[in-house]
Amino acid sequence: MDVETRAFGYDKEAGLVAALLADPTAVPTVSLLAFDREEPVGHILFTRAFLDGLDDQPMIHVLAPLAVTPEYQRRGVGGQLIDAGIRMLKERGSHLVFVLGHKEYYPRHGFRPDAGAQGYPAPYPIPDEVADCWMVQPVSDRGFGVGQGKVRCCDELNKPQHWRDDEADR
Ligand SMILES: CC(C)(COP(=O)(O)OP(=O)(O)OC[C@H]1O[C@@H](n2cnc3c(N)ncnc32)[C@H](O)[C@@H]1OP(=O)(O)O)[C@@H](O)C(=O)NCCC(=O)NCCS
Repeated sequence: MDVETRAFGYDKEAGLVAALLADPTAVPTVSLLAFDREEPVGHILFTRAFLDGLDDQPMIHVLAPLAVTPEYQRRGVGGQLIDAGIRMLKERGSHLVFVLGHKEYYPRHGFRPDAGAQGYPAPYPIPDEVADCWMVQPVSDRGFGVGQGKVRCCDELNKPQHWRDDEADR
């Protein structure tokens, strides 16, 4: 959690990580910490998500949050965490992974911009000018074959305050 506070410069994301790790609807999670010797320098968390309207719920995930401490940013730590996390999700049988984030960054790690246009609206409406920032990546052979639908996150991440870009919440 210290990693999140140092990376973001405020503690809202650290509180979110604690809540997500205690949320029974978030399992199976993938949570990875990157270390430099004894020091934690990066953290990534993937939590379970669901597709509204499907009777048979495929295993899918959302990446949130990803954090690298300031001194270690732009040295590949974030990329390694994404790639290692996706390898673990594949081993666990996940089919799709979603992320809301920088549209220049995540496509370097396999994410496709504008998941909404591909049949996967976000839990809350994303403004048109940042539609590309809601992204999806298939991680199994079935991938998009699992069906389409509006994405619903685990209970803690599905709260509207996590989907507003609102400085006042921090
Ligand atoms: C965003 C973040 C996770 C990236 O991790 P990282 O280890 O620094 O990233 P990597 O070293 O794997 O990749 C570096 C590339 O990411 C991109 N990048 C990193 N931070 C970025 C930012 N804030 N905005 C846009 N692109 C960014 C750059 O293109 C950079 O490449 P460059 O150095 O050639 O310009 C990290 O900078 C961070 O924790 N930032 C603060 C918290 C945050 O914004 N989290 C993301 C929530 S979606």
